[in-house]
Amino acid sequence: MPKPDLEGAYALNSMDDTKRLYADWAGTYDQDFAEKTDFQLPDLVADAYASLGGSGPVLDFGCGTGLVGEKLAALGVSPVDGADLSQEMLAIAGRKACYRDLVSGNVLDGYQMPGAPYAGIVSSGTFTNGHVGPEAIDVLLTLAAPGALFVLSINGVHFDKAGFGAYFDARTDQVSDLKLPVVRLYGPNATGEHKDDTGYLARFRAAYTKGYSI
Ligand SMILES: C[S@@+](CC[C@H](N)C(=O)[O-])C[C@H]1O[C@@H](n2cnc3c(N)ncnc32)[C@H](O)[C@@H]1O
Repeated sequence: MPKPDLEGAYALNSMDDTKRLYADWAGTYDQDFAEKTDFQLPDLVADAYASLGGSGPVLDFGCGTGLVGEKLAALGVSPVDGADLSQEMLAIAGRKACYRDLVSGNVLDGYQMPGAPYAGIVSSGTFTNGHVGPEAIDVLLTLAAPGALFVLSINGVHFDKAGFGAYFDARTDQVSDLKLPVVRLYGPNATGEHKDDTGYLARFRAAYTKGYSI
């Protein structure tokens, strides 16, 4: 049984274990993980999206308990839809009343999102060890309007291990204006083994298709 904490999450290697871990973690994730570790990514992703001029409709992929949605709402970005594997995490997000549609499922099976195509797609903490690799971006691109703004956090170790560099190199026809600033995942109050971990705040645009605009 995977332990509902960061070590357990990084060690995940099956869809069943991922569902079990997040079912167990959902009720305590915000307080016992995000607050205690001073988790910065949800705010960094939302702030970057808004400061780059991102607008709604936006999809928060791997929205979990809704920390990105809360911040986007505070920044005046709406409407925001969410998608996540875990129904228990989505139930917490739903209570925060900052999402329009919430859809559950494995990204690699594709999502039927009524709100697509999106003007933007954001994600915090889901492109990480034991979770989702670059192939998920192919699915997200199918949900994006031409020119849509993406802001996705990607764990630094996972970026190398899962081949995100090669992925982006092979997608220059679909991904434009890629920037990969490095950020710290946790704030100054973090403690423990991962307190100094870093990642990328990958931001790019879905390439324009002639004749479309957003
Ligand atoms: C570390 S949590 C991040 C949640 C939230 N975005 C945040 O920043 O707090 C990772 C989320 O990814 C979701 N997830 C993991 N694998 C997934 C998959 N294959 N498809 C969709 N969601 C997935 C989990 O259910 C979990 O809610």
